[in-house]
Amino acid sequence: MKVELEKLEKLGYGKKEAFNSLRTNLSFCGPDIKVITFTSCTPDEGKSSIVMDLGRAIAEDGKRVLLVDADLRKSVLVGRHQAKSDQGASIKGLSHYLSGQSKLSEVLCETNVDNLDIIFAGRTTPNPTELLGNRYFDEMIMYARENYDIVLIDSPPLGSVIDTAVIAPKCDGAVLVVEANKCSYRFIQDIKKQLELTECRILGVVLNKVKVERGGYYNRYYKRYYRSYYRGYYSGYYKPYYGKDDKSSDNSKGKSK
Ligand SMILES: Nc1ncnc2c1ncn2[C@@H]1O[C@H](COP(=O)(O)OP(=O)(O)OP(=O)(O)O)[C@@H](O)[C@H]1O
Ligand SMILES: [Mg+2]
Repeated sequence: MKVELEKLEKLGYGKKEAFNSLRTNLSFCGPDIKVITFTSCTPDEGKSSIVMDLGRAIAEDGKRVLLVDADLRKSVLVGRHQAKSDQGASIKGLSHYLSGQSKLSEVLCETNVDNLDIIFAGRTTPNPTELLGNRYFDEMIMYARENYDIVLIDSPPLGSVIDTAVIAPKCDGAVLVVEANKCSYRFIQDIKKQLELTECRILGVVLNKVKVERGGYYNRYYKRYYRSYYRGYYSGYYKPYYGKDDKSSDNSKGKSK
């Protein structure tokens, strides 16, 4: 099925950089890391947003990406991105497939973002944990491994429901999304331990919703970095200094030749 995502946020420079570096960090986790689940301690820490924007960043890099919305209790992707099927038909999703109502080919949606396919969550069901544990889920993962370069699974918060503990053992790695200043260190440690029990490799943590305040650490760091990066090498203001008598090192007029 072809699906148009009518509402997609245009990423600003800072966000784009952040997702490109997340993409790069994941690629350094190794070639065997293909199926990655994203979870958090509590709801609303930013998993779905991160999975979508990361998926777009990886797809832009020319890789075939499958995004799976495995949060069968609270699906937001169709509404948030105003997904419309090209035939005007209702969009079937993971719950339809896992409950045997639809074939995998019927829930796999090709989107208007090049290289990005999505399996939406589908209708909410009373028994998501059971569905996620069935053999259809394993078959979907098997198909995805063979047909995509990377599979990103948006999973429910592990501190609220157990579904991620069912999903994680089938994945190559897990990323914990942590909203800055929301949960206690102890709670995050507990969730990390729960995730470790699934024997899924924890690839790392994404710290989300960090306030970048004037004079704050992140702002200071980035300002300094960008100043030297841009003024130094790209804007033409930089001239190397070779010594006291080196006339070419005179920067007083600003621009170099
Ligand atoms: N970096 C961010 N800065 C500001 N707002 C953000 C950021 N990331 C996500 N949000 C906002 O936070 C809200 C929750 O985000 P999202 O739905 O992605 O979280 P979630 O972890 O998937 O939630 P749930 O556990 O309910 O599925 C949304 O309104 C989203 O726009
Ligand atoms: Mg979500």
